[in-house]
Amino acid sequence: MSEHIAGFTSTGSKRPETLFGSLDPELPSRMARSSGCRVWDENGREYIDYIMGLGSVALGYGHPEVTRAAAEAIAGGVVGPLAPLLEEELGAEICRLMPSAEQVRFLKSGAEAVAAAVRLARVTTGREHILGCGYHGWLDWCQGASGVPQSTRLLYSELPFNQPEQARALIRSAGDRLAAVVFEPVIVTEPDAEWLRVIREETARCGALLVVDEIKTACRLAVGGASERYHIQPDLIVLGKALANGFPLAVVGGRRDVMAGVGRTWISSTLATEFVSLAAAKATLEVLVSRRVPEHLGRVGARLRQGLEALHREHSDLVTGVGGMAEMCFLQYGDEAVSRAVTAACAQSGLLFKRSAYNFVSLAHDDAVVDRTLEQLREALSAVAKPA
Ligand SMILES: Cc1ncc(COP(=O)(O)O)c(C=O)c1O
Repeated sequence: MSEHIAGFTSTGSKRPETLFGSLDPELPSRMARSSGCRVWDENGREYIDYIMGLGSVALGYGHPEVTRAAAEAIAGGVVGPLAPLLEEELGAEICRLMPSAEQVRFLKSGAEAVAAAVRLARVTTGREHILGCGYHGWLDWCQGASGVPQSTRLLYSELPFNQPEQARALIRSAGDRLAAVVFEPVIVTEPDAEWLRVIREETARCGALLVVDEIKTACRLAVGGASERYHIQPDLIVLGKALANGFPLAVVGGRRDVMAGVGRTWISSTLATEFVSLAAAKATLEVLVSRRVPEHLGRVGARLRQGLEALHREHSDLVTGVGGMAEMCFLQYGDEAVSRAVTAACAQSGLLFKRSAYNFVSLAHDDAVVDRTLEQLREALSAVAKPA
């Protein structure tokens, strides 16, 4: 384990137990560097990566235009005493690209930005209850983890994904206690149009806000995320991950009258306005738009997905299903032992795939990389399938 980092690493999804089932000296556990779609571990071994910083990198690691913008911002001093000019410029660009955002505020992590949206919903409605759908980060308001006060847990309940009738019943029963429905727009499958219609109509009907958590989907399914792709009209939107291609930046944005709630509560953080991440996000958005990155992700992702489906047919005892979408897809395995064996065999053949979670392509993944990946994966599956 680790001598100095409690729980091995500060990001839960990067623990060896999560990635591979256990810490194994034969498998990568710490990385040294990354570039494009490649990662090198502490022993210098190279991998093609589909974890892509847990979806926070859509242009590829170390993208030159983002790196250049960040380097200039570093040379400019990183942070200062006044609101940076860049904050206003990037805010304007985000409002232009995300039609539901009339105003925005910047924060550092996705969890912080969703918590800010929840705070704004409570301030706007004067109500406390939240219905959530999906993962929204580690903070108290949405977590059942130990250490969260019972009184806080009582203010949150789950809304099932893609179940219109249950959504209607839950929203109506929360009634005038409901401050907001906060939802991930894609959970393994695409959202059902009827479910989207019901949650929009029912929240409006009972005076609650609709908050779309686009931390994984923005800048990936479309520049404007799932909202653009599925014509969602939320009151608040939350962005993060791919927005700054791996630099720490998240956004809460939405209707001007709701965003005005910042004046009636307290949402602020010292480094929310450091300008390296703001500059990285500005450069990232430029590349996302000019290179039509979401189209690339959809096309290359579809090639990967088709290949994975063929492998699923060949090795249906090991890979029992291919889930998700072209841009965010994952493999379902026979059981825990198979899942460990296949993920380990992939890593040994130079591929980093995340088990029981989304895998992501980037602008740095091209057809040749995907075809090579599928060959390596075929070899890895054949090695696991071989009787010992
Ligand atoms: C949909 C969604 N919301 C919120 C979060 C939390 O973001 P962060 O880990 O940056 O705090 C995540 C992280 O995976 C996420 O996928």
